[in-house]
Amino acid sequence: MSPQGTAHREGIDSLTGAAGLARALRTHEVDAIVGVRDIMFVRLKQAEDELESSRNQLRALTAHLLSVRDSERVAIARELHDEFGQALTSLQLGLAWLARNVKPAQKPLLTKIGALSDATTSLIRSVKNITVELRPGALDELGLAKTLKSSAREFEGSAGIPCGFRTNTAGATFDRPAAVAVYRIVQAALTNVARHARASNVTVALMKRTYDLVVTVRDDGKGISRKLIDSQNSLGIIGMRERTVALGGTFTLASSRSNGTLLTARIPLSRVVIGPATAA
Ligand SMILES: Nc1ncnc2c1ncn2[C@@H]1O[C@H](COP(=O)(O)OP(=O)(O)OP(=O)(O)O)[C@@H](O)[C@H]1O
Ligand SMILES: [Mg+2]
Repeated sequence: MSPQGTAHREGIDSLTGAAGLARALRTHEVDAIVGVRDIMFVRLKQAEDELESSRNQLRALTAHLLSVRDSERVAIARELHDEFGQALTSLQLGLAWLARNVKPAQKPLLTKIGALSDATTSLIRSVKNITVELRPGALDELGLAKTLKSSAREFEGSAGIPCGFRTNTAGATFDRPAAVAVYRIVQAALTNVARHARASNVTVALMKRTYDLVVTVRDDGKGISRKLIDSQNSLGIIGMRERTVALGGTFTLASSRSNGTLLTARIPLSRVVIGPATAA
């Protein structure tokens, strides 16, 4: 080979060598990058799985706490009713006996007994109201729909805001813990309307659809911001949502300044209605 040919050959060799090295380096880098990316994917997946599992644990814990709170309320209501209720009733009977046996001449004493008797009567009423609040006994006597209807009427009386009630669940029987959950959701929603909404109209509805029981509370008040709906400090809203989710349902709050707030809890019929379960 001529000297020029040899130089040309060496030139080509050194070029392929450099290109090959560059290619090898690039491939190596790409391999490293792909490796890092794969590791990151795996770690991300692990983090997602851990997050999902702790979210599920938190959900289960909340559902458990809510159900413990409900049974504690029932126990406190029973204690209040049995201990205080009976003690106050005997106190009132004793005062009535005193009033009958005090001489008419002892007027100041009679007045005092009368005042004590009035105070006792009002205490008995308070204990009764607290007991009803703690343990919605009306659910057993009236059923869910009638209890909600009477809640709507009570709300009208106490908040001074007209409150309608609609249902198509006549004849349906509800599972008690599920009915308590629905009752508590509606109570919390109505309390929110009274406290925050500045509404002039409210409607509560309990509707049986093909697959779900749909509970709605609609007001025409000032609405809630998305930030407040999603805030971790909105414990009332979180409680309503968790009660719904614990029954396998979905919970939404739709709100706007012009249209007020619409709360919807949609719960599978199979989890709440024990008969007859067909859509009305
Ligand atoms: N119907 C409503 N209309 C307007 N604002 C509302 C309504 N419901 C809730 N809000 C707003 O959302 C916030 C969070 O409601 P949430 O029920 O979680 O808490 P809260 O009522 O302030 O306290 P609580 O824990 O006693 O229920 C309220 O403070 C209020 O500002
Ligand atoms: Mg509230």
